[in-house]
Amino acid sequence: MNSKDQKVIISTFEKEVCEGLTAFPKYLSSKYFYDEAGDKLFQQIMALPEYYLTRAEFEIFQTHKLDIAHSFDNDKEGFDLIELGAGDGKKTKILLKELGDHNYDFTYVPIDISQNAVEGLVNDLSVEMPDVSVNGQIGEYFEVLDRLKHISDRKKVVMVLGSNIGNLLHPRAIQFMQKLCHAMNPGDLIFMGFDQKKHPQKVLDAYNDQTGVTAAFNKNVLARINRELDGNFDLDKFLHWETYDPESGTAKSYLVSKEKHTVDIDALSLQVHFEAWESIHTEISQKYDDDTVKWLAEESGLRIVQSFTDKDEYYKDYLLTVV
Ligand code: AVI
Repeated sequence: MNSKDQKVIISTFEKEVCEGLTAFPKYLSSKYFYDEAGDKLFQQIMALPEYYLTRAEFEIFQTHKLDIAHSFDNDKEGFDLIELGAGDGKKTKILLKELGDHNYDFTYVPIDISQNAVEGLVNDLSVEMPDVSVNGQIGEYFEVLDRLKHISDRKKVVMVLGSNIGNLLHPRAIQFMQKLCHAMNPGDLIFMGFDQKKHPQKVLDAYNDQTGVTAAFNKNVLARINRELDGNFDLDKFLHWETYDPESGTAKSYLVSKEKHTVDIDALSLQVHFEAWESIHTEISQKYDDDTVKWLAEESGLRIVQSFTDKDEYYKDYLLTVV
């Protein structure tokens, strides 16, 4: 092959790092937080006293499990319970047990791009709940949903927990929900967690914990560039910074350069210059109210049927139907 024919294959990660760090203002997508180290840090975040989201949703499942189970299949005709991004399934197990105890006819379909996550969960369930029918699927959400549409004609209930939708700005959240609708049939259900607007300090604390785990999680995107793209980011030269706008309900995470300096990313043949106090925007964590969720649902071809909340009303799981 002569040099004219040589193709440089560049991954999406490389492309997006290059785009984000040469843009003004600089940005990196929060989806790149989640490599092996990032997954571990996120597990720690979920156990932090400040990170109320996981506990609130856990409480909702414990308190309302009977009603939630009933709302999924009130005519007891059978359904597929599909979970996008199932993780360790801790919250879902409460519901699976409830559904099993009341003899609902269902198959649990956890979907994740991580083979480890799916295999771990399927193995756990085969020991803990041998009677529950489980069909773990590895792959991209929409590709798997499309596949399922052709395999089973049973009613679908799709769960998206953990306020994962909140990491998308509204237009992208609508796109995501519209795509979900297209992979489903009228009458199918979506059970989705949305973190609620609340005292701004409570939100800020959740994303800026005392022990610095969230800071390490945010900085992991730089550590990942060092590991995977031969970068030489000095993490100590960056500050984790969180903002929350109570009007829009948007929490934003940044990494702020404490001094003027230059970083080399050898795999991209890229030099990135930072001015003192220049920022990289890394994540949004949207907070919602009922009107906003109603608007998102309507824009996406969905209708709110019911919602379930915790005692402090910090968090809500909404049951939405495809219209
Ligand atoms: C996964 N996602 C919903 C979390 C959130 O709350 O935005 C990720 C996270 N970022 C910092 N802490 C947790």
